Amino acid sequence: MEGDVVIIGAGLIGLALARELAQRGASVRMLETGEPGRAASWAAAGMLAPSSEGLDGAFYELCLASLERYPAFAAALLEETGLDVHLRREGFISPAYDDAGLAFIERRAAEARERGFHARMLTMAQTLQLEPVLAPVHAAVLFEHEASVDNRRLGRALRAAVERLGVCIDEGLPWVRVAATHRRINGVETASGFVPAPIVVNAAGAWAGSLEGVPEQARVPVEPVKGQMLALAMPSNLVRHTIYARHGTYLVPRDDGRLIVGATGERVGFDTRVTAAGVQRLLERALRIAPGLKDLALVETWAGLRPGTPDSLPYLGAGAIEGYFLATGHLRNGVLLTPITAEVVADTIEGRAPRVCLDPFSPERVRPASNVAS
Ligand code: GLY
Repeated sequence: MEGDVVIIGAGLIGLALARELAQRGASVRMLETGEPGRAASWAAAGMLAPSSEGLDGAFYELCLASLERYPAFAAALLEETGLDVHLRREGFISPAYDDAGLAFIERRAAEARERGFHARMLTMAQTLQLEPVLAPVHAAVLFEHEASVDNRRLGRALRAAVERLGVCIDEGLPWVRVAATHRRINGVETASGFVPAPIVVNAAGAWAGSLEGVPEQARVPVEPVKGQMLALAMPSNLVRHTIYARHGTYLVPRDDGRLIVGATGERVGFDTRVTAAGVQRLLERALRIAPGLKDLALVETWAGLRPGTPDSLPYLGAGAIEGYFLATGHLRNGVLLTPITAEVVADTIEGRAPRVCLDPFSPERVRPASNVAS
């Protein structure tokens, strides 16, 4: 592929797309107002969990297809950069505490099995045998296909991979502004000068909706959804599976000995403060699920901004004016969707039919289900 592509935003999505395009022969430049891989990409828990997250329809299929790409994606990055992204494939345990919870996990298990994945129902005794720190449960499901990745390592690996491919990253820019007529893109104005480009991709994460200079008809309603998180220091293998309880509470073990506890979901603008109430809520929920964690040291707290959209679906594909493309709005599933986003958005930019029909300006933006898994 020939021609220049400018990607605004060097998070996981932007970096993976830059890598994909550069591998296909494009000349790519990235513009970043912060530090590459340091916003939501750094703050996330790194869960690769379409079944536990309770997703549906074509979006669920897209997420499953991306999950299936992860082992090869991680292996390729290791080969390209020497950096291991710590893909953990022990699976996810989703506990149920009452009949309604049981009905929910049984339905999710059946849906996973219909697609050929292993979802094993566990009794309370089996659950506690696998994870003795947990509180008593009604029952649980073990989603064996689900995994996690150390998203901070993934950011570093993707950065190293794109730099090796000759992608130029302009970081720490005080501001960027899209330069476009109402019909086509011309490039991007930045604090360091004008960058002409026939193709510009908005991969600006939580800032994608407030990117300046985008003509009205190409704007998308992306808004930050704050997630507060914390980490506990865990004796080795105290928790081996990711524990995903309903209502968005999860415990994610890392190879480095941290246990990530997440997350809040707050619509409070661009505020990234860690608050007393946020930490209290996380600890209360974590200790209710797993009282056996009560003596662990609290070693880190942080907050990040997910790119939220009105219907929780991403904006992927051609962006209503010539030369403008979108790769944003991934909300809770940006890490999971990183490999497939790179692939399908690169296909769209190249004018190839992507594996999934992408129409950011249609109410049914990600479709159809059947085409994405191949
Ligand atoms: N994917 C988990 C979260 O966004 O909290």
